[in-house]
Amino acid sequence: MSRKKVGILISGRGSNMSALIAAAKEPDYPAEIIGVLSNKAAAQGLITAATEGIATASLAQSKFPSRDMFEDTMTQVLESWEVDIVCLAGFMRILGDDFVNRWAGRMINIHPSLLPAYKGLDTHARALADGVTEHGCTVHYVTPGLDEGEPILQAKVPVLPGDTPETLAARVLVEEHHIYPEALRILAAALP
Ligand code: GRF
Repeated sequence: MSRKKVGILISGRGSNMSALIAAAKEPDYPAEIIGVLSNKAAAQGLITAATEGIATASLAQSKFPSRDMFEDTMTQVLESWEVDIVCLAGFMRILGDDFVNRWAGRMINIHPSLLPAYKGLDTHARALADGVTEHGCTVHYVTPGLDEGEPILQAKVPVLPGDTPETLAARVLVEEHHIYPEALRILAAALP
């Protein structure tokens, strides 16, 4: 079995990244994590990845004259790692069409809502404000429209009395860590 090479894009904590790294240690997992790229030099996830012996890179968009040049440089880094698949894991930047199209069908994201509900930010607070009884997370393909790509996997959690955005986020995060490695397994196994 040839394992697909994966680059992960992060901006912060990197707990989903860690879940992918852990899954890829399983001998029959069809993907390996080659590198982690952050747009924030202080991202905790960079330290975690380096501790795991994974290549890391940090690129600040503010250092580039344009978003296109920033994203072209991200692509160069990912290509230097020869990645087949890009996983967005808490990467807090909206990506331009050229970058998205470069990785079409090979770039996935984890979003903390049951898409198509609650695209964008502050999903937990918005779900609570609406009084929904169920919330969750989605792994989906990345397409030019924000959080609009086809879902690969979803997981639901109940909304409980007394929930705050933080307690709800923590319950959803447990499920994120289950479905993201599973969705990457599905994608990696399906690619030629
Ligand atoms: C997660 O809730 C993810 O769904 C969202 O950003 C958060 C990132 O957390 N896109 P982490 O960096 O993976 O811990």
